[in-house]
Amino acid sequence: MKRIAIFASGNGSNAENIIRYFQESACPAAIVAVVICNNPAAGVIGRCRSLGVECEVMTRPEINDPEIMTNTLGRHSVDAIVLAGFLQMLPPFLTSAYHDRIINIHPSLLPRFGGKGMYGRHVHEAVAAAREKETGITIHLVNERYDEGRVIFQASVALGPNDTPAEIEEKVHRLERRHFPEVISGWISAMG
Ligand code: GAR
Repeated sequence: MKRIAIFASGNGSNAENIIRYFQESACPAAIVAVVICNNPAAGVIGRCRSLGVECEVMTRPEINDPEIMTNTLGRHSVDAIVLAGFLQMLPPFLTSAYHDRIINIHPSLLPRFGGKGMYGRHVHEAVAAAREKETGITIHLVNERYDEGRVIFQASVALGPNDTPAEIEEKVHRLERRHFPEVISGWISAMG
């Protein structure tokens, strides 16, 4: 069974959903071995504790330090990394050590509404301002060339003309809840 590290910076609804999915699966392809968090005030920390999953809160310099980071992931025997609302760029040593073994979820239909500054609520505000008729989620590989990682899954949802950013966010979260754990499971199962 493969061992996943989830990297998260905020509320952690995706982290919780993924942890529960693999905890509750009768024959799981993976387990969440650890959550790495770069924000000591993040909601994800409490969610992990109540689910019995260890959460390592690390500073930016610690995450960027090859020795500290490699030791941390090694201690938990991590095979693959899932970015679930993680808002720090990964250092190149990590993307090369885990080449094709890191995936990220982005809350829009990339390449629409991606790039610098596009994360969380900012994405949904931009989608609302552009009066898009649909939005969605993109799950993609994270490699050395960050934004060019192969897209492995997209799902879309229709938007009403007056949907607010909060309503769009709720629709996107519903897609994330429904699809992200299953996509991770399929990706991990196909991994050598
Ligand atoms: C999720 O919607 C995720 O797609 C987004 O952050 C949110 C985290 O929510 N990620 C990005 O914007 C990455 N660019 P959560 O902390 O409740 O899982």
